[in-house]
Amino acid sequence: MIEVEWWEYDDAEELAAAVAGDLQFVIESALDARGTAVIALAGGNTPSAAYTKLAAAKLDWKRVTIIPTDERIVPLGDKLSNVTMIGKTFIPKGARVMPIVPQATTDHKAAGRSADALMQDLHWPLDLCLLGIGEDGHTASIFPGADYDEALSGPRERRALGVMPDPLPPEAPVARVTLSRQGIVTAKALTIIIAGAAKRKVLEDAIKQGESSPYPIGRVLAEVELPVDIHWAP
Ligand code: 6PG
Repeated sequence: MIEVEWWEYDDAEELAAAVAGDLQFVIESALDARGTAVIALAGGNTPSAAYTKLAAAKLDWKRVTIIPTDERIVPLGDKLSNVTMIGKTFIPKGARVMPIVPQATTDHKAAGRSADALMQDLHWPLDLCLLGIGEDGHTASIFPGADYDEALSGPRERRALGVMPDPLPPEAPVARVTLSRQGIVTAKALTIIIAGAAKRKVLEDAIKQGESSPYPIGRVLAEVELPVDIHWAP
């Protein structure tokens, strides 16, 4: 089984502060070591308070590149757009927040190839990947469906791909672009932020099940080599 460390907090406020502190530390370390940092941040609702706190940190933000771990294929500015949510917080600080989906595309496979090409030009592996999970066990936009095998076991050099979840997730029923499992697990730091008892149970089960897990997060974590930090609040 992989090595994980659970960090538990009393409430969402403490969770956000702790995750922001950890992310700040990783970014600072990369800036000290290399002069730049490249990180991938989860979309969804849970991490947004941590992002607000992180953005208040005194960092040389113009040397920090941020991509979303995954993107819903919607126009920039749409309420479902992950990069729009992340950009609102970090662009005013001077960070380079990169959209990974080309505007006006409807072809998720082509959008995935374009995201992969964009990521091939970034410093890699990622200095940090922050993941969220859904109660259905998805992470980033790795879902069951026709693209599931490719997301998990595509060519090792593939960093991102387009996916059509099946069934479409009700909270955002659209095609996606996502980091591949390989893109995620090669990150130099892997951190998970979750809230609530249901997600905790899914994650505990998924970790135990490993590669045979019915949950995408279980399949992804089964390939991780470094210890993973999991931050949780009820
Ligand atoms: C997405 C996300 C996704 C997210 C989980 C949890 O675009 O859907 O990046 O992987 O992290 O769905 O989302 P919540 O925090 O909103 O529950």
